Amino acid sequence: MPFIKKSFITDRLLANVPIEKYIGQFVNLKKSGSNYMCCCPFHHEKTPSCSITPSKQMFYCFGCKEHGNVIDFAMKYKNLSFVEAVEEVAAFAGIEIEYEKGAHQSKEAADKQKNYFDFMDRAASLFTKALNTAQGAEGLAYFKNQRGLSDKTIVEARLGYAPKNPRFLQEALCRNKGDEQILIDLGLLVKGEYGIHGMYRNRVMIPIFDKRGRVISFGGRTMGDDKPKYMNTKETPIYKKRNELFGLYETLKANNNRPPRIVVVEGYMDVISVRQAGCNYAVASLGTATTIEQITEMFRYTDKIICCYDGDSAGRNAAWHALVTITPILQDDKEIRFSFLPVEHDPDSLVKEQGLSAFVSYLDNAITYPEFLVAHLSTEYNLSDPNGLALFVSETIKYISKIPVLALRSVALKLLSATSGIAENQLYDMLKTSLDGETSDTNIFKDEVKSHEDQENILNTPMRRLIAFICQQPTIVSTVLYEFKLESFLTLCSSLQIRGTRELEYLIKLISSKRDLTPSELIEYTRESEYASTVRKLISAPLLITHQDGSDIPFNDRVDYFVQLLIEVISKPLKDKAEELKIKMNQGDNEALAKYSLIQNKMVFRS
Ligand code: UTP
Ligand code: MN
Repeated sequence: MPFIKKSFITDRLLANVPIEKYIGQFVNLKKSGSNYMCCCPFHHEKTPSCSITPSKQMFYCFGCKEHGNVIDFAMKYKNLSFVEAVEEVAAFAGIEIEYEKGAHQSKEAADKQKNYFDFMDRAASLFTKALNTAQGAEGLAYFKNQRGLSDKTIVEARLGYAPKNPRFLQEALCRNKGDEQILIDLGLLVKGEYGIHGMYRNRVMIPIFDKRGRVISFGGRTMGDDKPKYMNTKETPIYKKRNELFGLYETLKANNNRPPRIVVVEGYMDVISVRQAGCNYAVASLGTATTIEQITEMFRYTDKIICCYDGDSAGRNAAWHALVTITPILQDDKEIRFSFLPVEHDPDSLVKEQGLSAFVSYLDNAITYPEFLVAHLSTEYNLSDPNGLALFVSETIKYISKIPVLALRSVALKLLSATSGIAENQLYDMLKTSLDGETSDTNIFKDEVKSHEDQENILNTPMRRLIAFICQQPTIVSTVLYEFKLESFLTLCSSLQIRGTRELEYLIKLISSKRDLTPSELIEYTRESEYASTVRKLISAPLLITHQDGSDIPFNDRVDYFVQLLIEVISKPLKDKAEELKIKMNQGDNEALAKYSLIQNKMVFRS
């Protein structure tokens, strides 16, 4: 967190922006006791399972487990970075941000970053300008006549033209020492035999935006038939092509960050062309096969992805690659489908020739994951040959065994049964054998158990339950801080070397120095610190003190629960220690005797 003062966030911002007011701008809140419920904006649902608790200044969704304070909400809902989210929430409340003095290093890094984005933006504007002058006439004609793009599309996509002059960018952009190096870092200039020159010459330029709309790279297309057809910016400090999607920014913007579906097409021009025709949810990967990062990113905003490919064999292969890529991250509530266009078309030519509705009806009729799985593999074998059929079945079973969603697995088996003519229960036995034969870390059933356990097992030690309680109920801890002699409790934990004592100590110290700490503030105190992941995991873990609407059981019951947890944490370690000392004592160790009586005293530490 570079410039913003931490104390500003915890003491001023969080204290003055009621989370329910901020969230209430975007969703319909229903009062439920002292809390609020709403339909979760982070996954699709019809009955509300997201609770907002003013006393904790937190939100928590029982459905998708999304949770956090008002800053987390802004980050997630509006796709913002942390600093931007703080700025957004501050602006909402009309509070002026206080910045840290003397954070030079991080400020320099941030300035450099900002400079990169500035240069990219200015380059994009220069290319746009060039497109509209005499030197760019050929480029403009290419977009308008050959590609059928309207002025509006050209302006909105910030399309441009890189002139023939190899020093075009230098002449226009380089004023200071170091500017050339920046453009080299950004992949816009290259060092060649005859000195430094522009990477793109006499090409039409398509800027690529990150999901916040900043220019991060370019695709430069030839207007003729020379190779390469597209030149893409290399990887740079601000451009990692595995993570980015062409068109995602526009898709999110046009759909208020929640597109009902996203279609992945193959080319830049496909995205631009179908968007012009009215399909505002198309993206393309950037000269690579679709990556797992890209799919994960899309599933943050939508529950439904359609991979749309050309009907040729390259398209089939690309789709198969996408299927294999997505398999490990398949989920019950997410859907991926595959759509194939006629061989002679890509989305661009299809919408031009047959209109948007033809394209959309291909999307609407996209086949499901298990259908494509079985259909694709069935084309790889000669099913009328018994040997081919056997190979097909065992290969398909292998893929089915990798599906992490049980329901999809069953459906795939059903389809395989229909295609192969082999009874479902026989296939099921084969599947089981195939699963049993796998090593434990690739065994899907095992994985499922593990991830299921993760949820519950987060709370599997008394210390974790105690820390979870403290994160969720700092006020209770604060109230009984001295009465319960928590300082001596810490000393005891530390002498018994119980895991988690360090985290416990941090939390108790924090609460003693800030008696009115809320869970929401705790998130800010620990953000990006060594305690962040512990706090994140435990602050929303399901303890038995919270009702489904986010409200808590009565105060006294929570205190009792806390006491019970304190005892649980030390009782076993104490008993073990006592046993150990007793053995030593019996062997005539006098020191052990002294320690033993000490521990006997500690066992009644709570009066
Ligand atoms: P296509 O060759 O299908 O391009 O490549 P397209 O988008 O239909 O191109 P037009 O319609 O002829 O203009 C699909 C995608 O593969 C990447 C680009 O991202 C392109 O959009 N590609 C293709 C390259 O990166 N370099 C190339 O030379 C060709
Ligand atoms: Mn094309």
